[in-house]
Amino acid sequence: MTTTSYHRVTKRDDIAEGGMAAHVVAGWPVLIARNGGKLQAVIDRCTHAASPLSTGRVRRGAVMCPLHGARFELATGRCLGGGYAPLMTFDVREDSEGWVEVAVPDAAPGQEHLPVRPR
Ligand code: FES
Repeated sequence: MTTTSYHRVTKRDDIAEGGMAAHVVAGWPVLIARNGGKLQAVIDRCTHAASPLSTGRVRRGAVMCPLHGARFELATGRCLGGGYAPLMTFDVREDSEGWVEVAVPDAAPGQEHLPVRPR
């Protein structure tokens, strides 16, 4: 079983509705987005060819990969259209002081979790 821990990442007001932000949380590449008022967090690495997703766009609850256009539902990580494996998702919460906290595995990410920047 994978154990996870919450980490304080950013202030709630730093992520506007429809916006997203990339963070490295205990070594994990995390994309945090606000959709319908709700914060959601997924891995910042496309399951197709490992592009970072944080340079893409968020529309209607999904992030679009900037490299080949795959779309992933932020709430579930599911690839819309089903072409690729789902994204890893992370639990996210806001504390009473306005901080956003994300739960990532306690184990360090492997190379298979890290995005590859297009040259
Ligand atoms: S790398 Fe994301 S769709 Fe190809």
